[in-house]
Amino acid sequence: MILYFSATGNTEFLAKEIAEKTGDECLNLLERIKNKDYSEIRSDKPFVICAPVYVCEMPRFFSNYIKKVPLKGSRDVYFIVNSAGYGGISGYLAKKIARHKKLCFKGYNEIVMPRNYFISHYPVQTKDEIKERLVNACEKVNEIADKIKKGEKLQSRYIFLFEKIITIPFNPVWSKYKMKAKDFFTTDSCIGCGKCARVCPLNNIIIKDKKPVWGDNCTHCMACIGNCPKDAVFYGTVTREKGKYNFNDYKYMLNEKTSSAVKNKDHQRRKNG
Ligand SMILES: Cc1cc2nc3c(=O)[nH]c(=O)nc-3n(C[C@H](O)[C@H](O)[C@H](O)COP(=O)(O)O)c2cc1C
Ligand code: SF4
Ligand code: SF4
Repeated sequence: MILYFSATGNTEFLAKEIAEKTGDECLNLLERIKNKDYSEIRSDKPFVICAPVYVCEMPRFFSNYIKKVPLKGSRDVYFIVNSAGYGGISGYLAKKIARHKKLCFKGYNEIVMPRNYFISHYPVQTKDEIKERLVNACEKVNEIADKIKKGEKLQSRYIFLFEKIITIPFNPVWSKYKMKAKDFFTTDSCIGCGKCARVCPLNNIIIKDKKPVWGDNCTHCMACIGNCPKDAVFYGTVTREKGKYNFNDYKYMLNEKTSSAVKNKDHQRRKNG
């Protein structure tokens, strides 16, 4: 079973691709995480855990959830993370989680996807760069899915000691001082639909008088900005210049040759007339 969290669609796309190619099913963990639902998850096929990278590791709320939720049935676990280029120590921590859960670690792989962290200091990628990343990611997913299907181990990247020494203290400091929600605001185009609140993994948004209000518990996942149907969410002045990211705005760049999820959707559409 493929288990995932995705704020802006990249991980969801990869998880669904892996599911298509391995003939397995996918489970979006968002609702479980939001509701603190730690009921067991059962699968006869290996668990494939898919996550984005936040500040050089898997999102901490996500790894904490995975650590806690009982995984029953298969004893094999793979970890697939996707990042904008640097997966940091995610692989090291993935192995530790597998050991903690007494699961057999079948390896860890990183996939490079378009950057969704538009409010960071990095420049926005061009459309060509985004397309190149998506097409390359589809190729990598093919290789990964093939190995998972055969029950083979994935070759994990070697993580150096200096990466651990830098990241382990850096991540909480960055999260504490940089991941603030006070700069979020909405424009008049907000229709009060509540989607931003529904997609927030930390339940940090409430809808009051038909407008979102942000609390203090934010991990900067970008789900509220990236999924607003009216593009009404902004962050300080930076999103005015850089806009927002959501995989769905770019999926037209893929076709049935590159993606089996796209192919099957087209096929389904043709079948349904
Ligand atoms: C808070 C935050 C921190 C991030 N940190 C990193 C990072 O350390 N290294 C990196 O390469 N990408 C980083 N990214 C980029 C995401 O990992 C990447 O765009 C991912 O594909 C987003 O997945 P999603 O669309 O499923 O949410 C970060 C994104 C966010 C929102
Ligand atoms: S998702 Fe957008 S339109 Fe809907 S309540 Fe949130 S800000 Fe308003
Ligand atoms: S409030 Fe923070 S944690 Fe919640 S969706 Fe928005 S960016 Fe993510």
